[in-house]
Amino acid sequence: MLGPVILAASRSDRMRRLVSAAPVTKPVVDRFIPGENVGQVLPVIEELAGRGLELTMDVVGEDITSPAQAEAARDAYLELIDRLKPLGLGARAEMSVKLSMFGQALDGGHELALRNVRPVVEAAAEIGTTVTLDAEDHTTLDSMFAIHEELRRDVPQTGCVIQAYLFRTEADARRLAASGSRVRLVKGAYKEPAEVAYQQKHEIDKAYVRILRTLMEGEGYPMIGSHDPRLISIGQEMARLAGRKLDEYEFQMLYGIRGDEQRRLADEGHRVRVYTAYGTDWYGYFMRRLAEKPANLRFFVRSMVTK
Ligand code: FDA
Repeated sequence: MLGPVILAASRSDRMRRLVSAAPVTKPVVDRFIPGENVGQVLPVIEELAGRGLELTMDVVGEDITSPAQAEAARDAYLELIDRLKPLGLGARAEMSVKLSMFGQALDGGHELALRNVRPVVEAAAEIGTTVTLDAEDHTTLDSMFAIHEELRRDVPQTGCVIQAYLFRTEADARRLAASGSRVRLVKGAYKEPAEVAYQQKHEIDKAYVRILRTLMEGEGYPMIGSHDPRLISIGQEMARLAGRKLDEYEFQMLYGIRGDEQRRLADEGHRVRVYTAYGTDWYGYFMRRLAEKPANLRFFVRSMVTK
């Protein structure tokens, strides 16, 4: 019950101001978002890479209101790519982007987002890495998939995310698997209506398994974005049955969640990529992490009460 309430709060400006200003918020936020700028996050990248993990970097921020902010988002990613270059990690450190942050929700947003994200995709390719387009709420997805297709014309390794909770996703998965794309499959983190999305956990999990099979049996590169132990072992088994080698798929998890499992899989020889978000505009990202696990909220509230 708590999850949808927290997701609704994630869209509220009043809650944003309250939560962001509370001094006790910071230590809880730090668990999921290990820095506010590139300088703070570079040592984290080096540390994770040193432990045999790969990364996908997210500069947080999604509710922008002007083209200038969209350009600032583009520049933040370009700066990150510039700072990654000397580390020589290549595809071991890729980028995840939310098109809303590149202007997708503004007037003329589709073209604006494409114009802002293209230089990031090209700069990433120049240092031997790539970009994955995150999936946001269902109203944004036609535009996201069209931008993905457009970007793949020049940079075919550009990836995208699909969400198991949406009814449309099985068809999207078939199309993407046949096109040979890199695709991250996740359960889905937004509050979606019953007209477009499964609401029950068991339905979402079953859809996840069906979609994962399509990806594993297809031509592309599946990225299993989940912390769910059952889905992780099903993913391993499906990859084996599909005859995929260890470098023909990967697991992805969020920074700060199930670190032991990330290491265990990497020690077994799996490719494991840690989605690492940083930046100052962390509210939306943080609230989705609280909504996924009510125990996080209890920890957060307890720390507010006991300070
Ligand atoms: P589930 O929520 O069932 O969790 C399984 C177990 O994992 C829990 O029992 C708990 O132990 C642990 N866990 C999960 N979430 C936790 C949390 N927040 N705090 C502490 N423990 C937690 N969504 C989206 O809509 N668009 C996107 O682009 C992305 N991108 C993305 C990238 C990557 C790499 C990941 C891993 C996830 C996303 N997501 C996402 C989020 C995704 O949709 C989903 O909300 C979360 O991954 C939680 O679902 P699980 O599959 O982990 O299962």
